[in-house]
Amino acid sequence: MVDNVLTPSPYKIIKVTKESDSEYTYRVATDIVPEHGQFLQLSIPKIGEAPISVSAFGEGYLDFTIRPVGKVTDCIFNLEAGDTMFLRGPYGKGWPIDKFKGKNIVIVAGGTGVAPVRSLINEFYKNDGMAESVNLILGFKSEGGILFKDELEKWKEKFNTIYTLDNGVKEGFEQGMVTKHLDKLPLNKFSDNYEVIIVGPPVMMHFTALDFLNLNVPEEKIWVSFERKMSCGVGKCGHCRINETYVCTEGPVFNYTKAKTLLD
Ligand SMILES: Cc1cc2nc3c(=O)[nH]c(=O)nc-3n(C[C@H](O)[C@H](O)[C@H](O)COP(=O)(O)OP(=O)(O)OC[C@H]3O[C@@H](n4cnc5c(N)ncnc54)[C@H](O)[C@@H]3O)c2cc1C
Ligand code: FES
Repeated sequence: MVDNVLTPSPYKIIKVTKESDSEYTYRVATDIVPEHGQFLQLSIPKIGEAPISVSAFGEGYLDFTIRPVGKVTDCIFNLEAGDTMFLRGPYGKGWPIDKFKGKNIVIVAGGTGVAPVRSLINEFYKNDGMAESVNLILGFKSEGGILFKDELEKWKEKFNTIYTLDNGVKEGFEQGMVTKHLDKLPLNKFSDNYEVIIVGPPVMMHFTALDFLNLNVPEEKIWVSFERKMSCGVGKCGHCRINETYVCTEGPVFNYTKAKTLLD
C-alpha cells in the first residue's frame, strides 16, 4: 500500500502485451500485493484516474488488462515498456477465497470481465485440490476479442472449459452467448457443494444470474464483481454509491443477495 491512500506513486511499466484487437495488458513493477479481485486507481497526471482490476500478480509485478474507452485509458494506450504509470491502492473487497476452498467452482465471464477473475483462476490452477473442480464458461464477442489465449489453452488441461464466441466460428469455441451454455454445467452432481462467479457487463451479469436462479441455484451461492464510476476509491466521495452501498469499499465483489439490489 502506498503511504497516503489518496496519493498516487510512480511505477515503471515493464511489459506491454497485446491480448486482443482492443485490449492490452500492462505489467507494472511494484511490491504491492493485492487480493484476488481487488482494483487499483491508475492515473495519468493532469488527465485523471481510472479504477482497473488486477488481472494477475506475482513477485514484483501487477498486471492490468485495459480496454481504451475514455480519457485515462486512451492515454494509457500511448504508454510503452519503460514509461511510468501512477498507481494507488489496492482497494475494495476481492473474491472470498476461503469460501471457495474445497468447492466446485463455476466461473462465467465475458470479454474484459475475464480480467477480474484471471488471477483467481490461476490460483486454482497453481494449487491442485484447492477447489473440488473448476468449471469455466468464458465468452467473447468475436475471435478478435479473445483474451489470454495461452492461458485459455493451459486452463483446459485441468478445468472443465466451455469457451464461446457471440459471433463467428473458431475451432475449440462454441457459438452463442454464455447463457446458452449454462445447462451444460453438471450442477446436479455438485449437490450443495458449489459456488458460482459471474463477471461481465451489467446486463450479462443480470441475465446470467436470473438463468442460474431458474436452474435453482440459491442466491447465496452467486458472486459478481461490479464496475461502477469511481473517484476516491476509499469510501469518501460518494461517486460509486448505489443507495446506501459504497461499491469501492464494500465491493467490487458482492454476493448476489446484495448485488440484486444494485444491478439495474
Ligand atoms: C472495480 C473496477 C474494475 C475495473 N476493471 C477494469 C479492467 O480491468 N479493465 C478495463 O479496461 N476497465 C476496467 N474498469 C472500467 C474502467 O474503470 C472505466 O472504463 C473507466 O471509466 C475508464 O476511464 P477513462 O477515463 O479511460 O474513461 P472515461 O473518460 O471515464 O469514459 C468512460 C465511458 O464514458 C463515456 N464517456 C466519457 N465522456 C463522456 C461524455 N462526455 N458523454 C458521454 N459519455 C462519455 C466513454 O465513452 C466511455 O464509455 C473497471 C472499473 C471498476 C469500477
Ligand atoms: S469512489 Fe468515492 S466513495 Fe466510492
